[in-house]
Amino acid sequence: MALEVVLRFIFGDDYELVGFDFNLLSQEPARNMEFACSFRALGKIILQVIERRRKDTATSTDALGMLMQARDPQSGQLMQDSQLIDEVLTLIVAGHETTASTLNWAWYLISQHPEVEQRLSNELNTLTTCSEFGDLSRFLYTRQIIDETMRLYPAGWLVTRKALRDDRLGEYFVPAGTEIYVPPYFIQRHPDLWEEPDRFNPDRFRPDNSRHRHRLATIPFSAGPRNCIGEHFARIEMQIHLMTIARYLRLRYIPSRPIELEAGVNLRSKYDFIMYPEAKMVGTSESA
Ligand code: HEM
Repeated sequence: MALEVVLRFIFGDDYELVGFDFNLLSQEPARNMEFACSFRALGKIILQVIERRRKDTATSTDALGMLMQARDPQSGQLMQDSQLIDEVLTLIVAGHETTASTLNWAWYLISQHPEVEQRLSNELNTLTTCSEFGDLSRFLYTRQIIDETMRLYPAGWLVTRKALRDDRLGEYFVPAGTEIYVPPYFIQRHPDLWEEPDRFNPDRFRPDNSRHRHRLATIPFSAGPRNCIGEHFARIEMQIHLMTIARYLRLRYIPSRPIELEAGVNLRSKYDFIMYPEAKMVGTSESA
């Protein structure tokens, strides 16, 4: 789902033509050099879309359309083909596995905490067919579950920076060229910042419990001028996904393999979570 959402956002109507070519991203679990080469080769498909669009006079309002129209503020130049391909590949990589992995953990955590699942169901019982985009902010508990999932399992578990010049970091001297590793995973489980840091407790993110917390105690989307450009997009996508499914279904976890982390570029579960869907009687707390 996350892959389809980001591809539709990038390619708009052309998704129907090229979506299939990107299936390898969700079908191939390995993230090794072989995968990187197959992924890079998808640049050819992106170039074909770019070239087809250049022959067409209509401009598209999807992300690729916006990138193709963007001009450098100083030189007024459009982006070169290679830049366009890089931008699109970055959006695909950054915009699907992160969201998918967070939702994966969210469903697992919900399945392990029946009281959380119950409160989520209660909140979603107030959802109606007339609910609109603007109503999303009313579903505070759903949002707290997402925040608490990202605290425990931040998809971007490690963020890196390189000092361009000599600098200071607190009491430390940082020579130019030093690589700095900032790990949201450890910050977000640090006992100086969080009580019972390993416990899943969405109530931590209730507004009254968040007031006194350090601004950077939780940074799943990183911070500063190069933080995640897709934060708002991802939050909305994850909330709609959870609300749509949790309103009708309870996902029961079927223990099969041990729960192990795989800390690659993204933090993923090493093995798939197998879940069994159970229908809920909408409007009640009962399941059928
Ligand atoms: C739960 C979902 C997501 C998480 C946890 C996440 C997290 C992050 C993190 C930690 C970074 C690194 C920022 C840094 O180095 O300071 C990042 C970068 C980025 N993210 Fe996300 N992200 C998510 C979803 C998305 C989505 C949906 C998109 C696009 C539609 C996106 C696009 C990007 C891009 C383009 C960058 C690179 C920014 C740059 O280098 O300037 N992300 N994200």
